Amino acid sequence: MHFASLAAICAAVSAPFLSTRLVNGISLTPEGRVFLVFQRVDNSTGLTIVEYNRTTNTSTAYPNAVWNNYTSGADPGSNFVGANAQRIGPDGNLYVVDTGQVGGSGPVLLPYGPKLLQINVTTNTVTRIYPMGNATSSSSHLDDVRFHNVTGKAYPTDAGYPGLIVLNLASGDTRRALSNDLSTREYMPASATCYTPWLEVLPDGQWLYYEPSSGGMSRIETKWLDGAFYNSTLNDNSILDRYVQPFAHTPSTGDTAIDAQGNVYNSDIDSQRVVKINPNVDAMWIDRNGTLWMPANQLNRGTGYNNGTSRIVKPLDIFTIHIGIGPSPINHA
Ligand SMILES: *[C@@H]1O[C@H](CO)[C@@H](O)[C@H](O)[C@H]1NC(C)=O
Ligand SMILES: *[C@@H]1O[C@H](CO)[C@@H](O)[C@H](O)[C@H]1NC(C)=O
Ligand SMILES: *[C@@H]1O[C@H](CO)[C@@H](O)[C@H](O)[C@H]1NC(C)=O
Ligand SMILES: *[C@@H]1O[C@H](CO)[C@@H](O)[C@H](O)[C@H]1NC(C)=O
Ligand SMILES: *[C@@H]1O[C@H](CO)[C@@H](O)[C@H](O)[C@H]1NC(C)=O
Ligand SMILES: *[C@@H]1O[C@H](CO)[C@@H](O)[C@H](O)[C@H]1NC(C)=O
Ligand SMILES: *[C@@H]1O[C@H](CO)[C@@H](O)[C@H](O)[C@H]1NC(C)=O
Ligand SMILES: *[C@@H]1O[C@H](CO)[C@@H](O)[C@H](O)[C@H]1NC(C)=O
Ligand SMILES: *[C@@H]1O[C@H](CO)[C@@H](O)[C@H](O)[C@H]1NC(C)=O
Ligand SMILES: *[C@@H]1O[C@H](CO)[C@@H](O)[C@H](O)[C@H]1NC(C)=O
Repeated sequence: MHFASLAAICAAVSAPFLSTRLVNGISLTPEGRVFLVFQRVDNSTGLTIVEYNRTTNTSTAYPNAVWNNYTSGADPGSNFVGANAQRIGPDGNLYVVDTGQVGGSGPVLLPYGPKLLQINVTTNTVTRIYPMGNATSSSSHLDDVRFHNVTGKAYPTDAGYPGLIVLNLASGDTRRALSNDLSTREYMPASATCYTPWLEVLPDGQWLYYEPSSGGMSRIETKWLDGAFYNSTLNDNSILDRYVQPFAHTPSTGDTAIDAQGNVYNSDIDSQRVVKINPNVDAMWIDRNGTLWMPANQLNRGTGYNNGTSRIVKPLDIFTIHIGIGPSPINHA
């Protein structure tokens, strides 16, 4: 993994109101409080998780200065070593994903460095630490997380040793799923040399949508992932990957968001646009004849292959390919 490329590419999705630091994540509470991640991709010191005040335009260490003050040799379990993502969970808490890697790209400080933190935004205190040492390895890069509010599961992603992690939020138990599977690794040459799977859980909780940053979106029903806790057969990737469905030939992406109707918004880092994917009208992407509709994203003309300069020629075409799998009838409104 070449972290410098991550900085160059992901900078395209930085929040415009802050240009001095690389912002790799923003989340807002329902009341409008803003939390940001400043990535330390250059091993810079300084704040990494902050609350941003939109009135004064100032950033304050969050939840406090001590968590933001990791220095070599300090306890990696009680500091942000390499905070990579944060988001407000369905329970209203702020969750922070820490790679456990100094600067986000150094050695993984196992077992307590890689972790998910739960922070109560009312008391501004860390209320729970979920160590990810049992679900990560020395090649891991804990990247992001999504939640399922009904089953009480969270799904951290591993972008270094590619795979999904299923976390039982009540017990803290973890299982890995689809490690090094084609769907979590790559379907096609990446224009981004960085490697950042993201994933989304749809509001109905039935499906988990995910893709590596190189593009190619897959989905799996969450019940199969969650089954890994009680059904050891499902810990076998060759069995679990039978439940993986190719979903959309998405372009290389920087990040995504999902709305209440289940529309997935996928940032296209090659052409600087946002692609909207509506899972209720799968015909846009997978029609009933098993045809996958896909945008031609000109990956070979992207920044990753051209020393940081995009040679994308517009307009971009949309092609189709027959994949022989139709849309799920369950997924139609
Ligand atoms: C932002 O700063 C202003 C001025 O100090 C303060 O009144 C306000 O409460 C702050 N907002 C947040 C969300 O902290
Ligand atoms: C904060 O930033 C906004 C947008 O750039 C600007 O309009 C406003 O004047 C700034 N406020 C302060 C107190 O600097
Ligand atoms: C940050 O770490 C340095 C070096 O260990 C220490 O001197 C300082 O007191 C710490 N500051 C905070 C706010 O924890
Ligand atoms: C950051 O520090 C870590 C640990 O010392 C090192 O492995 C890594 O190469 C450094 N990264 C950069 C970009 O200097
Ligand atoms: C956060 O702490 C406050 C005060 O103790 C409590 O009322 C609230 O329920 C907590 N929030 C969550 C999401 O647990
Ligand atoms: C790993 O799992 C074992 C057994 O459940 C537990 O005792 C240990 O604390 C876990 N380690 C980490 C780093 O989570
Ligand atoms: C989960 O979220 C949905 C959508 O916001 C909501 O309707 C439902 O009540 C939530 N369920 C639980 C158990 O929190
Ligand atoms: C475990 O998973 C396998 C593979 O999908 C399935 O055939 C079996 O019925 C499952 N067993 C239980 C107890 O759910
Ligand atoms: C499927 O193929 C049939 C036969 O070519 C065609 O009539 C029909 O319109 C196609 N349906 C879709 C959804 O493309
Ligand atoms: C990128 O730069 C290297 C070193 O200058 C050069 O060898 C290579 O041909 C360049 N690649 C492209 C696609 O321009």
